[in-house]
Amino acid sequence: MTANGVHVPPGAIYPGSFDPLTRGHLDVIERAAAIFPRVLVAVVVNPQKREPLFTLDERKQMIVAATKHLGNVDIADFRGLLAAFAKRIGAGVIVKGLRVVADFESEMSTALMNRSLSGIDTVFLPSDPQFSFISSSLVKEVFFLGGEIDQYVPEAVLHVMRAKRATLRPTEQTEEKQFS
Ligand code: PNS
Repeated sequence: MTANGVHVPPGAIYPGSFDPLTRGHLDVIERAAAIFPRVLVAVVVNPQKREPLFTLDERKQMIVAATKHLGNVDIADFRGLLAAFAKRIGAGVIVKGLRVVADFESEMSTALMNRSLSGIDTVFLPSDPQFSFISSSLVKEVFFLGGEIDQYVPEAVLHVMRAKRATLRPTEQTEEKQFS
């Protein structure tokens, strides 16, 4: 089986927008990699929710850098239906992290739909409590309003975020002074 030209033996697929990858995501990847023989982190090209801040390449590069200590993790991207992609690459299981009860409510129906479409089950990993309040959108909001996010994202992500902030026009940048 191949995904984006990468040979991927059957294992788990961990899908997401990763805009950007957080320490909560990384925790799920590390734990999934300890359970399953291989984990494919699958980055959705066009998230349904909103236009991503980071390009597909940036999102993938951040994951590559943050997971380089894990020998059984691959990164790919996909468009369209997750169920179709997971089936095409021969994934054995879909992995999702659950942070709060609200996550469960939406993820339950998604899991059932994905199983109905593909026959592939979803395994939920409960978020470590220290990461349960972290989301990509909150991390972006805090960062671009000048707050410290070192403890919420891997080091490699922080570098890319700083570079991204430097490319923004001054009017788009936030007033760090407010927070210092
Ligand atoms: O990190 P996110 O944004 O919560 O990830 C959401 C993702 C990518 C897992 C979800 O939006 C998805 O599976 N998108 C692919 C489109 C799809 O399959 N939709 C039907 C879901 S039953």
